[in-house]
Amino acid sequence: GGRVRIHHLAAAKERGERFAMLTAYDQYTAQIFDEAGVEVLLIGDSAANNVFGHETSLPVTVDELLPLCRAVARSAHHALVVADFPFGSYEVSPAQAVETGVRFLKEGLVHAVKLEGGAYYADTVRAMVQAGIPVMAHIGFTPQSEHALGGYRVQGRGDDAARLIEDAKALEAAGAFCVLMEMVPAETAAAVDAAISIPTVGIGAGASTTGQVLVWQDMAGLRGGEGVRIAKFVKRYANLRETLLDAARQYADEVRTGVFPGPEHSF
Ligand code: KIV
Ligand code: NA
Repeated sequence: GGRVRIHHLAAAKERGERFAMLTAYDQYTAQIFDEAGVEVLLIGDSAANNVFGHETSLPVTVDELLPLCRAVARSAHHALVVADFPFGSYEVSPAQAVETGVRFLKEGLVHAVKLEGGAYYADTVRAMVQAGIPVMAHIGFTPQSEHALGGYRVQGRGDDAARLIEDAKALEAAGAFCVLMEMVPAETAAAVDAAISIPTVGIGAGASTTGQVLVWQDMAGLRGGEGVRIAKFVKRYANLRETLLDAARQYADEVRTGVFPGPEHSF
């Protein structure tokens, strides 16, 4: 089919259908996930810890994400391509957010952007939408606020559920096309989804959201090794780390022993 558009995601919620979203940061993953029919690709600020080797998502910059966005956008022919606003690129003012959004659509070639924040960012979302920049809002656990929130903790428990519902309603009223929830009790996420008419996406937010998202290196088992914690919400559909480790070991071994290259690889 053609390009997944925002109205297709809205229609999915209306019909009670689901859609899939994955992160992608380069050409081949974008091509493969696009071919697999994943509806939404996200150039996450999680590139900080899944591409650039940082401990958290905070250090990554717009200038670092833009080339990854271009690679994904050029390689995906069906998926809706969304870029994350990095920490520090939108908090100052609606004007700063509009400028950053313009850069992502103009230089990053993406179709929409995502920012972390609730009702406080309603004016920012409104300004962006008026400028023609589609916005997905990310609430619940927001990794850029890790230090303010006191670490990776489930959000929206108990009385806090009401706050998440108010955040989602304010973001919908401001014109956001989707609300993403991270690490929220399934019951709270279901209540948020029921309280708004735009689609929702969950990561560690149960099964009631319109869509689901995972970081691709988690989904495919590339991330791992000693001391690496895999979150409870991750399901691994492959073990790419072991596959690549075996391939690299075998290659290195064949080089050392003179098995590779053989006559068939030589001119
Ligand atoms: O940066 C990211 O990868 C994300 C998703 C996991 C939601 O924000
Ligand atoms: Na992110």
